[in-house]
Amino acid sequence: MCGITGYVGAREASEVILQGLHTLEYRGYDSAGIAAFANGNLAVVKAVGKVQNVEEKVKALGTLNGAHCGIGHTRWATHGAPSDINSHPHGNERIQIVHNGIIENYAPLRAMLQKNGYTFVSETDTEVAAKLIDYHYANCHDRADALIAAMRDIVGSYAIAVLFADCPDTLYAIRKDNPLIVGVGEGESFVASDIAAVLRYTKNYYQLGDHQLAVVTKDRVSILDMEKTPVEHELLTATWSIEAAERGGYAHFMIKEIGEEPEAIEKTLRPRIKDMLPCFEEEGLDDSRLAGIKSVTFVACGTAMHAGLVGKTVIEKLCRVPVNVEIASEFRYNDPILNKDDLVVIISQSGETADSLAALRLAKEKGAYTLGIVNVIGSTIAREADDVIYTWAGPEISVASTKAYTVQISLLYLLSIRMALAMGKLTEDAARSYTRTLYEDMPRIVREAIALEDEVAEAAALFCDYEDLFFIGRGIDYHLAMEGSLKLKEISYIHSEAYAAGELKHGTISLITEDMPVIALATTSPLYEKMISNIREVKARGAEVLLITREGAKDAADEAKKVIYLPNCSELFSAIPLATILQLLAYHVAAKRGCDIDKPRNLAKSVTVE
Ligand code: M6R
Repeated sequence: MCGITGYVGAREASEVILQGLHTLEYRGYDSAGIAAFANGNLAVVKAVGKVQNVEEKVKALGTLNGAHCGIGHTRWATHGAPSDINSHPHGNERIQIVHNGIIENYAPLRAMLQKNGYTFVSETDTEVAAKLIDYHYANCHDRADALIAAMRDIVGSYAIAVLFADCPDTLYAIRKDNPLIVGVGEGESFVASDIAAVLRYTKNYYQLGDHQLAVVTKDRVSILDMEKTPVEHELLTATWSIEAAERGGYAHFMIKEIGEEPEAIEKTLRPRIKDMLPCFEEEGLDDSRLAGIKSVTFVACGTAMHAGLVGKTVIEKLCRVPVNVEIASEFRYNDPILNKDDLVVIISQSGETADSLAALRLAKEKGAYTLGIVNVIGSTIAREADDVIYTWAGPEISVASTKAYTVQISLLYLLSIRMALAMGKLTEDAARSYTRTLYEDMPRIVREAIALEDEVAEAAALFCDYEDLFFIGRGIDYHLAMEGSLKLKEISYIHSEAYAAGELKHGTISLITEDMPVIALATTSPLYEKMISNIREVKARGAEVLLITREGAKDAADEAKKVIYLPNCSELFSAIPLATILQLLAYHVAAKRGCDIDKPRNLAKSVTVE
């Protein structure tokens, strides 16, 4: 949520910053701005809309030309509508800041600053933070002390990059509960929300910790704690290449990322398989720990929560232990009942989602054993969970999550098999046979699912002109229906509902008419006949039906207007290719409707506010 980037070095600062902002645009894209030192002045350019708009303004004005130190921001509005005035940077002639997060106590701070003579031009909490730092600096005359004093005052979450007008060759940065890295190059340094923003210049970076302050010049980085004591940080090296973070000829990141699924699944599973059995010992999950688990709770948001629902189905089936799946924003305020034999799994692509992070902290407080399933290396959830399993999906830029979900569910299958083995619910032979099928077949089967793209695009043409539709399914198909529906809503703006097929007749079937098409998922053999009955019920009320089912499903072609058959695969794992097909369906519906697929309205990739 909001992207920050900053640069100090010999290059043209505005070019580096704009480049970084384009990469970070997935984090927010309703306005953008840059502040930099040019010709001895602290100059600011900002504009409502996408980064492109501010880029054009920077070029037209030329006021940032020749700057070698600056900060930039792409915004996802929280306080105040998107506008030129509300765009970051904020501040005055002495200080400019860019901010990601929410200053919860901005109202009393603003009142205090007003009493001390400050005036405000924007509706943002960020302007309050800028003037708060300025206020402290005016009192203590020490930049680090002023930033530390502001950190003590602010309640909320923030990553803030700061320029002081009287220190034109230094970037300052502070953070709490929002990601911020400091990139280290040869005679140049960077700050950014995400390493992807600076990958073309350096792969080496420090991850700033909570309540820490970075003082960054072109050839020196100092990281201090709240007592101004230097903090030792490991210099990390990104494993992602710049190509992985770029679109590389694809029309959208979303379709590129769907195409990366087979390889991502393989990369995620391979390091966790030994002797064709799942093995998570390197992640700290040995059998004695897994065998003692009495219950599992998945906590996550959005698509990651839907991955937890697949995990629930599989763990309950293979291990016979109870599994809950909780929406993180509910879990954190529901006073959950947990104890030390409970496993709480936080699933998060970004590892920075505010609600998921709060849920993790709460679960730890309650004494549960916590496990993060996270994609972004070194992210806060990854660092704070008792143990972490990384999903090696590579950077996911499209706001709609695709490959991250597919690898999350693949990993959950693998984890379930190991848990069942550790608990004595599966023999070694059975565990080995499941593992082999998952590892050896799934990348190929997902490739076959992707090869159905033209057929899926044809099906998309049937739905793209409707404004409402239903997804229905039973069992694991219902959980996939929820994900398919979320994906479609998110990027095509078609209103859709995901319903347990058997529940329709308890009220909602009243909505089914010839104007309400239904996408029916029926990949689970024991429930197939029941699904066919539900399909007949909706057809009898005039609905057009797209059926997605297994190859060879009985009389499928007679039951629906169009049928898509999954590639032939083991029934236990059919959720994986089904996910890919639903992602392709959402993509093609949105493409036919001319939507901005990678940057759907009102959204941002990484939701670091509550
Ligand atoms: O980074 P996280 O996995 O924690 O993000 C959770 C959700 O915000 C995310 O999955 C969201 O639902 C996706 N945009 C859906 O495509």
